[in-house]
Amino acid sequence: MRAAFGDTLQRVIHAAVEADLVFLLQTADPEEQDLLYKKAAEIRDEYCGPRMVLRGLLEISSFCTNTCLYCGLNRTNKKAKRYKLSFDQILACTDRIWRAHIKTVVMQSGEDSMPAEDLAALIQEIKSRYDMAVTLSVGERSRKDYACWKKAGADRYLLRIESSDPALYASLHLDRSVRTRIRCLDDLQDLGYQTGSGFMVGVPGQTLNHIARDILFMAERDYDMIGIGPFIPHPDTPLRDAPIGTIQRTMNAEALTRIINKKAWLPATTAAGSLDRDYRADVLKAGANVIMPNFSPADVKKKYAIYPGKKCITEKVEDYAEEMQALASAASLTVDYSRADSLKL
Ligand code: 5AD
Repeated sequence: MRAAFGDTLQRVIHAAVEADLVFLLQTADPEEQDLLYKKAAEIRDEYCGPRMVLRGLLEISSFCTNTCLYCGLNRTNKKAKRYKLSFDQILACTDRIWRAHIKTVVMQSGEDSMPAEDLAALIQEIKSRYDMAVTLSVGERSRKDYACWKKAGADRYLLRIESSDPALYASLHLDRSVRTRIRCLDDLQDLGYQTGSGFMVGVPGQTLNHIARDILFMAERDYDMIGIGPFIPHPDTPLRDAPIGTIQRTMNAEALTRIINKKAWLPATTAAGSLDRDYRADVLKAGANVIMPNFSPADVKKKYAIYPGKKCITEKVEDYAEEMQALASAASLTVDYSRADSLKL
C-alpha cells in the first residue's frame, strides 16, 4: 500500500469528523447541551470511574522569556510582578500538599531559564522524601533538559499546544512556531513522561474549525491529560480588548474532548473558576475529572497573574478539603486522593 493512501484516508476521516464536531460545538440550545454533557459524563464514569482526582499546584516562578500575546507573564509586561520561590519554600509547600493527602505536586512557572540541574535537584529531593508523583509545567526546553528531569524522577509534564494550527499559533506567539511546540511534546512522550496538553477557548482568531481540529489533535497524539479553559483577556497584554471566551463554548469543547478522548484526565481549570462565577462544578458535570487546588504561598498567588481575577487568590487552603468535597458532590463524583497515573499505561 502506498503511504499516501493511508494519509489521504486519515484526512478524509478527519474532515468528516471535523464537520460534525463543528456542528456540535456551536450548540447553545439547553436541551442539546444537556444531552452533550450527560453523554460526556457517562463516558467519563465508564472509562475513568465516577471520581474527581486532585493535583496540588505550585507556581514556582513568574519570570518568563516568552512573549505569548495572551499571557500576563509575558516578558514585555513591565507591570508583572516577578518572583522565584526558593528551594526551601518549594519543599515547604510540597510538604503542605503531602499533608493534605494529595499525591501529585505540579510545579509550574513561566519560561524562566532556570538551570536544568537546579530543578533536577529539587525533583530528586521531593522524590526521596515523599511517595508522590512530580508533574512539571515549565514550558519549552531542550530534549536534554527534559531527559535530565525524567532521570531525576519527574513523572509527568504539561505543555499546552495552545493551537495546533500553524497560522493561528503564529498570530498568538511572536517569535515561536508550532513546530517547536510539537517537537517538545513529541520529546516528552518519547522520553516516557505522562504528557498533558490542551488549549484555550475563545482566543482572537480562533474558529470552531480550529477547536475541532485541536480536539482531534489531542486524540491523534493520545495525550494522558488535556487542559481546556476559557481565554480571559489580561489588561496589560496586547489582547486586552479582545472578548472573553464563553463558558458555553468552553464546556461544549470540554464535553466533546471527553467523548473523543475517553481515558484522558481532564481538569476543570482555574480559568473556568474565574469567570463571572465559578463554573468548575458545571465543567465536572460535563465530563472533567481533575481539580488542581493552588498551594502556592498566599503572596505569590496574586503575582502569578496569567489572567485577571484568578479564582484561587481568595481561596483558603485550610478550607480546601471541604470545598473539594462540595465540588465533587455537586457533580455526583467522589474525591480521589490516589496518585491517579495515566489511565493509558
Ligand atoms: N486566559 C486564559 N488562559 C490563559 N493561559 C495563558 N494566558 C491566559 C489567559 N489570558 C493559559 C495557557 C497556558 C496556561 C498555563 O494558561 O493556555 O498554557
